[in-house]
Amino acid sequence: MKVLCFGSLNYDHVYEMDHFVEPKETQSSLSYTRNFGGKGLNQSIALAKAGLDVYHAGRVGSDGQDFIDYLNKYNVKTDYLLKDDEQATGHAIIEVCKGQNCIILHGGANQAIDEKQVDEVLSHFEKGDVLLIQNEISSTAYLIRKAHELGMKIVFNTAPMNEKVFTYPLDMIDIFVVNEIEGAGLAGISSSDIDEIIAGLRKAYPDKQIVLTVGEKGSYYLYKDEMIHQDAFMVEAVDTTAAGDTFTGFFLASLLKDGDMKAALKLAAKASSITVQGHGAAQSIPSIDQL
Ligand code: RIB
Repeated sequence: MKVLCFGSLNYDHVYEMDHFVEPKETQSSLSYTRNFGGKGLNQSIALAKAGLDVYHAGRVGSDGQDFIDYLNKYNVKTDYLLKDDEQATGHAIIEVCKGQNCIILHGGANQAIDEKQVDEVLSHFEKGDVLLIQNEISSTAYLIRKAHELGMKIVFNTAPMNEKVFTYPLDMIDIFVVNEIEGAGLAGISSSDIDEIIAGLRKAYPDKQIVLTVGEKGSYYLYKDEMIHQDAFMVEAVDTTAAGDTFTGFFLASLLKDGDMKAALKLAAKASSITVQGHGAAQSIPSIDQL
């Protein structure tokens, strides 16, 4: 079984702020760093740091060699990462304030992924292989359809949640990984009440496996009548960027290695509690030894 994460790669421009910038306001940042990020890259790093062999597919600009080197440093295979001379690598503008963040995305090369690239990448995979995706690249609907046709198992972290998600063939997804905002969006409700989100997801996706993370209130695994709850590890957060990516990567790696859902939720909760104690995205994802 091979594992493919097909997703975004971004330069993260991170500004530490006294408060989030408001309309009509100009504000100086307290600090600035440029880091490797993108939900796809972060999740590939998390999978690899959790000890899984992973291929990362995606698209960067001509300056993308840094991303290849970075992924390779953590043993992520980059055979299917394309350099596009006509597009700039994607980037994100991230404000960080008191542990929380606001993110502006510019897709760049992530949004130039086309059906040809999807076909080329998937020609190296087969029935029983696993595909992990997020919602930051183009041609996602086509990717889901083709991976499903091949017989791959598809895990979808619906981040960032937007209306495009409903244009994808969601019936072909095996496992959804969502936080409470994505969960409510996916269920088509506007509530922030956990019980209502769980009920909404169960009603909308009665035969899907769903992993729902709810910050300090932990995480849930939902499948038909089954429900498993995992408490969060309580820590002081300095930057929550990539906490969800860490959770997704460690959860999936643990599940694929041991097939133990409870253990996978616990390892993921522990890993993301370490990520929020560090600054930045991929760089704050812990190693398995740290756990
Ligand atoms: O989940 C965090 C990530 O979201 C950042 O690294 C940023 O690039 C955006 O994709």
